[in-house]
Amino acid sequence: MAGQISKNFIQELLSRIDIVDVINSRVPLTPAGREYKACCPFHNEKTPSFYVSPVKQFYHCFGCGESGTVIQFLMNYGNYQFLDAIEELASIAGLEVPKGYVQSHQQEGYTQLLELMEKVNAEFQRQLYKNPESAAAREYLKERGITFEAAQEFGLGFAPNEWSFVKNNYGKTKNDLNMLERAGLIVVKKDSVYDRFRGRLMFPIEDRRGRVIAFGGRVISEGEPKYLNSPETMLFKKSNELFGFKKALQAIKTEEKVLVVEGYTDVVVLAQYGVKNVVATLGTAVTSSHVKQLLRTIHNVVFCFDGDEAGVRAAWRAVESTLPVMEDGHLVSFVFLPEGEDPDSMVRREGGEAYRERMSNGEPIAEFIFRTLLERSDISRTDGRARFATEFGKVISGLRPGMLRQMMLSDLATRTGLSESAIKSVLETPSSEHSASRSKPVASKDFSLTGQFISLLIQHPQFVKYVMELKGIEKLRDSNIRLLVAVLKTVQNNPELNTASLIEKFRGTDYFAQIKLFAISRDDFSESELEEKFEGIVMKLQERIIKQENKLKISQSDYTFDDEELQDFLQRLREQDLLKKNVQEGRKIH
Ligand code: CTP
Ligand code: MN
Repeated sequence: MAGQISKNFIQELLSRIDIVDVINSRVPLTPAGREYKACCPFHNEKTPSFYVSPVKQFYHCFGCGESGTVIQFLMNYGNYQFLDAIEELASIAGLEVPKGYVQSHQQEGYTQLLELMEKVNAEFQRQLYKNPESAAAREYLKERGITFEAAQEFGLGFAPNEWSFVKNNYGKTKNDLNMLERAGLIVVKKDSVYDRFRGRLMFPIEDRRGRVIAFGGRVISEGEPKYLNSPETMLFKKSNELFGFKKALQAIKTEEKVLVVEGYTDVVVLAQYGVKNVVATLGTAVTSSHVKQLLRTIHNVVFCFDGDEAGVRAAWRAVESTLPVMEDGHLVSFVFLPEGEDPDSMVRREGGEAYRERMSNGEPIAEFIFRTLLERSDISRTDGRARFATEFGKVISGLRPGMLRQMMLSDLATRTGLSESAIKSVLETPSSEHSASRSKPVASKDFSLTGQFISLLIQHPQFVKYVMELKGIEKLRDSNIRLLVAVLKTVQNNPELNTASLIEKFRGTDYFAQIKLFAISRDDFSESELEEKFEGIVMKLQERIIKQENKLKISQSDYTFDDEELQDFLQRLREQDLLKKNVQEGRKIH
């Protein structure tokens, strides 16, 4: 664990640093009275509302509300982690970070490894342009339509097709060889030592501060493996890093959005077409660490996947990594490209503007989840229903409590016509347990009255004989009423249908998704209980119809929320959530 840095040291550091200098070297400031101003680097604006106060040693944006000390600034702007920011400031101030504070880069050789990577990276680039043997690599770039500028911007290089190029140039001593091995640049076997990357086009992988920490090497044209990546080293943890992050930062801030793709070349080619707010994973699934970093930088993340089955699978893994770290106000969406396309081919075909447009029309995460779960489960079958319930329970329990969870529930409610409280009481597992393993099966008693009725009708259509005529039911004010009427009619007109065939009868209609959802509830009523249930519900419905008719006579005005009422309602929901959480936490203590 990283040791604590003393408050005293931080005080001393801040007293030696001028926030104006640090910010000015990154975002040019102009004087404004006793302060300095600039267009805010944290949101997109044309007139400056970002102010830096030398007296308070504090920055504040009146536009987006970002504010903080110089440490905060480095963390937000440069994407530094706290300890990284401290280290950077210490080096500006010429101070030594006190001993005992153990950070990864204080580990032995960390800085030397970075220097070595930098040197080798520069050499690979030199090789790409200077070595006659790299003509094939340059030709390959040309064929793929990667411009010289883009290649330079991303520092593409070439590893000569030799066993000992890096080894001979940088491994003169035993210690040097040891460093090369630790950097992942050479392979050391019992009786042989050789270069890891040979005859490959090299993509340097940078950390969030733009320091080269690894390489991805692509074979020139055909061959296996297509990409060879650096192994995990002291510098490089694959699941934490994103290709192109540092280079994309500025564009991510101005576009207020980050696009996530799968390939290095996708990032390079998109940038070439002016789409620069792009990062790529490194041949691994999207991890929560990735999503956390992205959402910390910007609240709008768009995942772009191929439209094939592998793309959908990868997208689902992204969902699983996203849910635990997503919070209110975060936007996460998914774009699936047409079959056979990847971002590289897509942007060439349609251009940067159209690609950007495409990325603005992604499927919101809630929608993607809902659609995928429905597609995955055959809900006309009992096991399919159970699966849907379990999967949906997992999704909801992966979410943090708050408005987002509430929104997902509302979303589901609108889509299905089920009452929110019904869905909530059934599917929500306690927020303090983040276990994704259990979820209660839905029971029809958790639905509203009309929901219960629909659910029972779908699951026990033969009991329709206990339903007497319900005159005027279609006028009942209830979000489920259209569906109920449709189901009731269908069952009455087709007494031979069983559950599965009933569901199938609705395939292709607007009701299909709702019907499937109602079909997932499970309860074990006996024949006589069912009879009672049906009759009871019918009685209650009849009562309602009569009541409503009387009310209608009194007032014809519709009841709708105005803005203030809506805010009030949302506020109450928030409080409820909080209350629930407190109660749960209280329980844990006792
Ligand atoms: N990848 C990898 N090892 C492989 C294949 C792929 O590490 N053998 C990773 C790389 O990070 C690659 C990403 O997965 O960028 C996406 O793979 P793919 O779509 O196959 O490659 P592209 O990036 O499209 O490469 P190209 O267009 O050059 O074929
Ligand atoms: Mn490709």
